[in-house]
Amino acid sequence: MKVVIVRDKEEMGKRAAALIAEQMRAKPHFVLGLATGSTPLPLYQELIRLNKARKLDFSTTATFNLDEYVGVPPTHNQSYRYFMNKNLFDRINICKAATHVPDGMAKDPDAFCLAYEAMMDDVGGIDYQVLGIGSNGHIAFNEPGSSLASRTRVVALTKNTIKDNSRFFKRIQDVPTKAISMGIGTVLEAERIVMLANGTNKADAVAKALEGPVSVSCPASALQMHPNVTWVITRDAATNLKLEWRR
Ligand code: PGA
Repeated sequence: MKVVIVRDKEEMGKRAAALIAEQMRAKPHFVLGLATGSTPLPLYQELIRLNKARKLDFSTTATFNLDEYVGVPPTHNQSYRYFMNKNLFDRINICKAATHVPDGMAKDPDAFCLAYEAMMDDVGGIDYQVLGIGSNGHIAFNEPGSSLASRTRVVALTKNTIKDNSRFFKRIQDVPTKAISMGIGTVLEAERIVMLANGTNKADAVAKALEGPVSVSCPASALQMHPNVTWVITRDAATNLKLEWRR
């Protein structure tokens, strides 16, 4: 794995955008895997800037998001579809029909999960997957204990995640208890992966994932098994790394 340690989250966004843009320019009909949360926002701002400056074209790009709450309609301001439209898709020249976020309102969620994987296969798989890491080492909604071979499926949110996410909802009872999430095995099939992390609250998880054993207790440690991962992390998220990681 490559590790790039940067000054701040703005530089993190720029470095990650440059990595993705280089690959996008080399391959028409690019397939991007995307994530929600606060971490990828500086990356999305830079992708928007490049697009507005006519330095990056999304007209033939397809996207697949990692996850979505079950039972939350796409129009709800806490749905991940709403987040992606607001923070990226509505601001670049992408064809909305080519943007995919799991359907949290699917009548048959299990069948939907199989269909979502088939859709990714149909376009040749993900070329570049963007990831964030949870403070407990999760990737997407793959919490500690998730199988490293897991596929897209319905997962129950842990009590901890429900509590963490309750700040976005009026009442804790309003927080969804389930989500559809790509699995760790699904994520590992992407051609390339860029993992972003900023903030001291991520320093433990970053160190475990990069320097600890590959283990279900830290889902992001599974990235050690992938041949093409770049971590772009801020200095404060890198403070617990013991080894000397070079640019
Ligand atoms: P954050 O979430 O970007 O909001 O910190 C990351 C994650 O939990 O995967």
